[in-house]
Amino acid sequence: MDVGRQEAPVRPPHTRPRPRAVLAMAPGVREEVFGHEALRRLGELTELHDQVLHEVSSPDALRALAGAEVLVTGWGCPKIDAGLLDRAPGLRLVAHAAGTVKTFLDPAVLERGVRVCSAADANAVPVAEFTFAAIVFGAKRAFTLARRYRERGTRRDFSGLPWLGTRGVTVGLVGLSRIGRRVMGLLGGLDADVLVYDPYADPAGIAELGGTAVDLDTLVRRSHVVSLHAPETRETRRMLDARRLSMLRDGAVVVNTARGGLVDTDALVKEVRSGRLDAILDVSDPEPLPAGHPLFDLPNAFVTPHLAGAQGNELGRLAESTLGEIARYAAGLPLLHEIDRGELDRMA
Ligand SMILES: NC(=O)c1ccc[n+]([C@@H]2O[C@H](COP(=O)([O-])OP(=O)(O)OC[C@H]3O[C@@H](n4cnc5c(N)ncnc54)[C@H](O)[C@@H]3O)[C@@H](O)[C@H]2O)c1
Repeated sequence: MDVGRQEAPVRPPHTRPRPRAVLAMAPGVREEVFGHEALRRLGELTELHDQVLHEVSSPDALRALAGAEVLVTGWGCPKIDAGLLDRAPGLRLVAHAAGTVKTFLDPAVLERGVRVCSAADANAVPVAEFTFAAIVFGAKRAFTLARRYRERGTRRDFSGLPWLGTRGVTVGLVGLSRIGRRVMGLLGGLDADVLVYDPYADPAGIAELGGTAVDLDTLVRRSHVVSLHAPETRETRRMLDARRLSMLRDGAVVVNTARGGLVDTDALVKEVRSGRLDAILDVSDPEPLPAGHPLFDLPNAFVTPHLAGAQGNELGRLAESTLGEIARYAAGLPLLHEIDRGELDRMA
């Protein structure tokens, strides 16, 4: 062994101090999203302030913000805007442990060079699973036929349906979003053709994923099942209006796990009530639907209480994703789920 050779210096694993982090979210959300182990890891990765901020104006909150480099946000967090940045001059990263940041983040924050990431991709997993199930149950008329069974007691009365089953169906996805892409992947397990409408997506990219890019009217005309995955914006509000709903084939199924405002609810109720269309809705406009709303009672409508996103044991994925981003930030690596200012307006 050449004892005279100089060893290269061993670098300590942390070349800079751990960033100071503060959690900001509604009461109870830390416990719901971050289990014991996730909090332990967050405490390892950062110098974690021991209180969760529910507001940003008390002396305690102001002290915590003054020293914060990372703000870990979650559901019900306070608004993050230029005023907050003035109180948190060292803030470099907002790591959101939930989906959309649009409800609380002023885009000015991104313009001031603070990086923002979210767990929307982790939240997309259960929404896509739910949507896939909704598409299969929709095509099999599971809800309508279950009700028929319950009410008429006839086990195999499948009469009067314009079409039934998943074989060879055309599924139209509106929005090649995080969720839309995952749904597309799951649809690979079905014998289905996939049409996609997304004016911001590259048609070649859609073809590579196994779909066909079309305009919205074509999608509506050709699909057996239409599933919505676009954000609610001025462009998408009521994109399924009375005219487009009337263009859908008889027996088509409208699946909405996106936002209720994308559909004209009154026009949908008319079509569902007539028996021409079926609807599976995890979101609605208004939301919640008032008690006694026809969509609760029509046999060919199935309404769930906005449950497709992460719930229960799925919440741990949001914490995992957030911890991954903070670890990458602390190690000086590129983030995987960083929000780009240019894309914010057309994102969910
Ligand atoms: N039900 C739930 O629990 C739940 C949970 C999470 C998200 N969501 C909703 O699901 C939808 C998709 O969320 P995401 O995170 O996958 O979205 P995303 O931000 O990943 O993508 C949005 C996509 O919509 C496309 N788009 C923008 N304008 C469009 C238009 N005019 N027409 C068609 N496409 C357009 C964009 O190009 C982009 O591909 C959103 O409406 C979101 O609010 C619901």
